Amino acid sequence: MKQIEIIIATDNHLDYAQEICEVISDSAKVRGTGIAKRTPDYIKGKMVNGNAIIALCKGMFAGFCYIEVWGHEKYVAHSGLIVHPDYRNQGLAKRIKEFTFNYSLKKYPHSKVFGITTGLAVMKINSDLGYKPVTFSELTNDPKFWAGCKTCTNYDILKSKEHKMCLCTGMLYDPSIEVKKKEKWYDKKVLKRLKKIKQTMLASNKQLLLWKK
Ligand SMILES: CC(C)(COP(=O)(O)OP(=O)(O)OC[C@H]1O[C@@H](n2cnc3c(N)ncnc32)[C@H](O)[C@@H]1OP(=O)(O)O)[C@@H](O)C(=O)NCCC(=O)NCCS
Repeated sequence: MKQIEIIIATDNHLDYAQEICEVISDSAKVRGTGIAKRTPDYIKGKMVNGNAIIALCKGMFAGFCYIEVWGHEKYVAHSGLIVHPDYRNQGLAKRIKEFTFNYSLKKYPHSKVFGITTGLAVMKINSDLGYKPVTFSELTNDPKFWAGCKTCTNYDILKSKEHKMCLCTGMLYDPSIEVKKKEKWYDKKVLKRLKKIKQTMLASNKQLLLWKK
């Protein structure tokens, strides 16, 4: 783990963009969940703008995450978190997220930080950083952000719910509200149960949509 360095990506890392997109897409297939598709050009743009974080192990791609800015810096989102399968379950996602979080708070000190995710690991990491689960109405209403969901397999559900909810859980960190990191507000069992309930409710909704087609 010590051999893995986490750094702000630059134009020196453009060659990793293709592999990053492939690992994101392959992992979504394995999980059987929807995911917003990213193109190598999009990832490269993030690297050039200093809005991407990459983890490397002796030059090999180990993990990645990038920052998106919405609503004239009212919000930032940390998206595309991915850890290469060879480096999972060693705390790397946590390190990448923490690095991204601290970097983003310095770069965009007045922005609220949010993410939407179906992943329990990401929910846990976000919770430890002080994020709280919120309804989608608390997140950016920038149509460009939500347009990213169009490539997700669950987009029909989001549309049918008038963009108010979907399989993803919205999580928000508001820097103006002091959150003591160690005071965990959540209970892991509650998070798991919440996720299960949402999946059951929305899966039946999806079946209805498919049936209607
Ligand atoms: C999700 C992912 C980023 C986790 O990476 P990782 O480096 O293995 O995660 P970490 O080792 O830092 O684990 C962080 C926490 O999540 C937990 N966790 C890790 N994988 C998990 C999983 N599949 N399910 C539930 N919890 C998980 C860990 O136990 C740890 O919890 P703890 O702090 O209570 O011990 C990685 O599995 C991945 O890239 N998956 C595919 C892409 C993806 O799902 N991205 C999220 C998009 S929403």
